[in-house]
Amino acid sequence: MPVSQSAVRLTNHLGHDYLRQALENDVRGGLASTPKHLPPKWFYDATGSDLFSQITRLPEYYPTRRELAILRAQAADIVRRSGADTLVELGSGTSEKTVLLLDALAAAGALRAYTPVDVDAVTLTDAARRLTARYPGLDVHAVCADFEQHLALLPREGRRMVAFLGGTIGNLDPAAREVFLKELRATLNPGDSFLLGADLVKDTGRLVAAYDDAAGVTAAFNRNVLHVINRQLDADFEPDAFEHVALYDMRNDWIEMRLRATRAMHVRLDDLDLSVSFAAGEEMRTEISAKFRREGLHRELVAAGFTPTFHYTDPTGDFSLVLAHA
Ligand SMILES: C[S@@+](CC[C@H](N)C(=O)[O-])C[C@H]1O[C@@H](n2cnc3c(N)ncnc32)[C@H](O)[C@@H]1O
Repeated sequence: MPVSQSAVRLTNHLGHDYLRQALENDVRGGLASTPKHLPPKWFYDATGSDLFSQITRLPEYYPTRRELAILRAQAADIVRRSGADTLVELGSGTSEKTVLLLDALAAAGALRAYTPVDVDAVTLTDAARRLTARYPGLDVHAVCADFEQHLALLPREGRRMVAFLGGTIGNLDPAAREVFLKELRATLNPGDSFLLGADLVKDTGRLVAAYDDAAGVTAAFNRNVLHVINRQLDADFEPDAFEHVALYDMRNDWIEMRLRATRAMHVRLDDLDLSVSFAAGEEMRTEISAKFRREGLHRELVAAGFTPTFHYTDPTGDFSLVLAHA
């Protein structure tokens, strides 16, 4: 249901009941599994989004700088090849990089509408307000939604370019990625396009450092999921009793973030009427971040029914932006 938030149009598909049910299901299922796991979308309350913004500025975290470099150099070309007049952005967060695409659309006289889509309503609304002020006359329609559940509900007006930046695609495992890409393709009209940002396979040391920074910001981001669960489900996790772990799985080409229990403990989740035990040293997976090769990205896009149009990379070859048409 559309809700008016000063100048910003906000549609929220994540009502309290929906979010609550989804969190309960994910936590109950994840803590009952062996090994235990939690999906990364629950990192992102307002604190988690703020921590992620800090991560993007860390010296070890190259992906944001590399993606920005590509966008600075290529935004005009991307916009020209896309033929779009409407930008839809999945997992938009603070929309910081997005201004480069919006500026390029404006310079081409093709800026009609922008739809940021994110699970974190606070960060989404702040970003939408900022962009409404920056681009007077732009139709900004923010949608609070889960991109694994609600793609079919996104606005369909205009000639759209759907951007999915930041390497967030890597948080989906290969099976989930296949479903996501096919579902997205099914919502696009002929002429619409998809701009996908993906981190590339590289030296393992640099990959691990990007997820295990010296200042401990990524560790705080990782533990934030326990604060979210404590608050939302009346649980008594002791976040400081868990160590941040980041490792590279070469077989799957992905980074795994885990939380390792530093001692044996019992955790009570009152709202789920659930008690869970952790052995000393037990690890719970909180995120995967898959790394890609150019041919693999191409193959996955084609398998989902896209026609890859152009492949952009930065001078170091660290990061990729692929433009594909429906
Ligand atoms: C890695 S951050 C990337 C943010 C921004 N696009 C960038 O490139 O810096 C992932 C973003 O996706 C959002 N997100 C994560 N899972 C989501 C989901 N299932 N549906 C919608 N948004 C999601 C998070 O709230 C966060 O803003």
